[in-house]
Amino acid sequence: MSDEAFPFPAGATEAMLDWTGTRIAHGPDPKHGAQSFAALEPVLGHSITAGGIGAEAAFRLFTETIVPSTRPFGHPTSLSFVASAPSRAALSFDAALGAAGIFAGNWDGGAGAIHAENQALRWISDLAGWPEDAGGVFVAGGTLGNLSALHAAREWRARQVERPARWAILASSEAHSSIRAVARVMDVDVIEVPADATGRMTAEAAAGALTSSVFAIVGNAGATNCGAVDDIAGLADLAEEGGLWLHLDGAYGLAALADPAQRPLFAGIERAHSLIVDPHKWLFAPYDSCALIYRDAAAGAAAHGQKAVYLDTVDKTHWNPSDYALHLTRRARGLPLWFSLAVHGTAAYAGAIARTRAIAEEIAAGIAGMAGLDLILGPQLTVILFRPRGMDEASMIQWAEGHRRSGALLCLPTRWRGEMVFRLCIVNPSTDPEEVLGVLATLTGY
Ligand SMILES: Cc1ncc(COP(=O)(O)O)c(C=O)c1O
Repeated sequence: MSDEAFPFPAGATEAMLDWTGTRIAHGPDPKHGAQSFAALEPVLGHSITAGGIGAEAAFRLFTETIVPSTRPFGHPTSLSFVASAPSRAALSFDAALGAAGIFAGNWDGGAGAIHAENQALRWISDLAGWPEDAGGVFVAGGTLGNLSALHAAREWRARQVERPARWAILASSEAHSSIRAVARVMDVDVIEVPADATGRMTAEAAAGALTSSVFAIVGNAGATNCGAVDDIAGLADLAEEGGLWLHLDGAYGLAALADPAQRPLFAGIERAHSLIVDPHKWLFAPYDSCALIYRDAAAGAAAHGQKAVYLDTVDKTHWNPSDYALHLTRRARGLPLWFSLAVHGTAAYAGAIARTRAIAEEIAAGIAGMAGLDLILGPQLTVILFRPRGMDEASMIQWAEGHRRSGALLCLPTRWRGEMVFRLCIVNPSTDPEEVLGVLATLTGY
């Protein structure tokens, strides 16, 4: 980069790297959190000027204003939504990866990076019991992964049958909101199958809802709100009988494939057509990445890939990640997962996933044993739903907000069967069950 166009002072890069090293070593501050627009505007509102404010001032805005005004999802006390727990190896590597400036859309631009990303995809495919011709790509998130998989599913089905007046996806009432969002984008219907009392879609219920317009069944491999895993083997039977595509949304839960003790939950996965799992959720990688894998990669390539005269020179005999999802330019966002796996080994991953599950079990047992708290569900994978007896909704929200602000715990309410409950989702093997139960003890006595 020309220093004439964009002069950058000596030492500025090193100062930023120093901050990066300290941040990775110490992790986020649990007391951080979003600030109001009114608080941010006077500081950031005029930060882009004709003459520039310089590297030091701009980076100070990042460290002193921007970062403190973000939620510290990587902290071990962050147990809401599906948080993130990137390993220090993955975070450190991500900083280096940014500096390398790799274009990883096609083999010509990013051969080495793509080959290494494909090793990480191979690890997941092997855990699923998928054949050599399985493959896919890392996309930005589960939403885009679900969209790309379901587009491939419809193209595949349309090659076999006459197009109905309206296409439909069959999915559980506990399917993630992204499935409905994808259906809106694709202009298809969602046939919602009522989940059972634990949030699981059974094959029997799914069979009862099937219509001839369905092209794909979406199975939950870890429902976000309750952790349920659908009857994957039964859904695979149903898909086979009807010539339908089975897609598994495992954005959160399929990480548990890495733990041999939890693998039986996903029996039947070897017969699914596509899956997603987000390394930024429970696979210890930073934002943003979703592994999208087709059991037969050719079905993904048949649906995706862009054609243009200026792209005619791209060698199609090589593995071009752009051809497997709705995108063209991409960073090698799967590489931090690859690096962390390469550094620590797959056994460390199995251990960390098993440890996280054990933490969830310990917290659930503690809740069940606490007078004044009712354990409603779980742990299913690592999701726990519980309710403080006698506490009204406003007090629950107030309690959650107070502990978020103090940094003690991020534990927010959700709804289960219409009623407000607290939800915990643990993805961090450093979460301390005693510390969490100590905070939850303040919920008793309402
Ligand atoms: C099961 C499931 N599917 C899909 C998504 C969407 O993933 P993303 O937020 O990466 O787009 C999520 C997000 O939490 C999820 O939990």
